[in-house]
Amino acid sequence: MNRTFDLVKTAYTLAQMQPCQEPQVALAGRSNVGKSSLINCLAGRKALAKVSSTPGKTQSVNYFRIEPGGYTLVDLPGYGYARRSQEERTRWGKLIERYLTGNPGLKAVAVLLDVRVSPQQNDLELVGWLRHQGIPILPVLTKCDKVNQRDQAARQREWRDLLGGAATPLCFSSVTRQGRDALWDALDHCAAQ
Ligand code: GTP
Ligand code: MG
Repeated sequence: MNRTFDLVKTAYTLAQMQPCQEPQVALAGRSNVGKSSLINCLAGRKALAKVSSTPGKTQSVNYFRIEPGGYTLVDLPGYGYARRSQEERTRWGKLIERYLTGNPGLKAVAVLLDVRVSPQQNDLELVGWLRHQGIPILPVLTKCDKVNQRDQAARQREWRDLLGGAATPLCFSSVTRQGRDALWDALDHCAAQ
């Protein structure tokens, strides 16, 4: 299917964020986990979302409208980048929290997790917080081109057990496009709930 994928809005401040009734699925994860690359891979474009090997590239909340589908994918700034000042981290935390709590149209959050990294405290905190808010979680293991099948499967099991068996993470790679079709299906499904 040919999709159009348009950047319709960018928010840098709380004042620029408005609650939105339209269906949305957000992408959240630690800095450098591959959120923006995943957007580009889904869109089949090289530089729709800005990618960088330096963590902390995405500093705004970016809204991408998907057609056909009629929903919005939202690229959130990454968390857990230690070299930020406390003030910056607080500002980002507020932006993300406002987005995640103030949106009637938010259907699910795809939580991106680097397949090479064992579960981190801040990932677990995010997952716990989303559950507490009653927001469905779509776990996605990123950079799966970097590890073999056996290690992918082991990390999948580890997260499935941590998530209480409710969801098995999808294995994804922006480089090989592994998991791209399955991810589209999962996003469409979440958006239609
Ligand atoms: P922030 O905007 O800083 O939160 O980062 P992000 O999560 O948007 O990560 P981004 O997409 O900018 O990617 C970070 C780095 O990881 C870049 O150097 C990418 O090229 C690399 N990367 C992203 N996805 C993959 C992947 O699937 N495989 C490999 N090998 N590298 C990847
Ligand atoms: Mg980014």
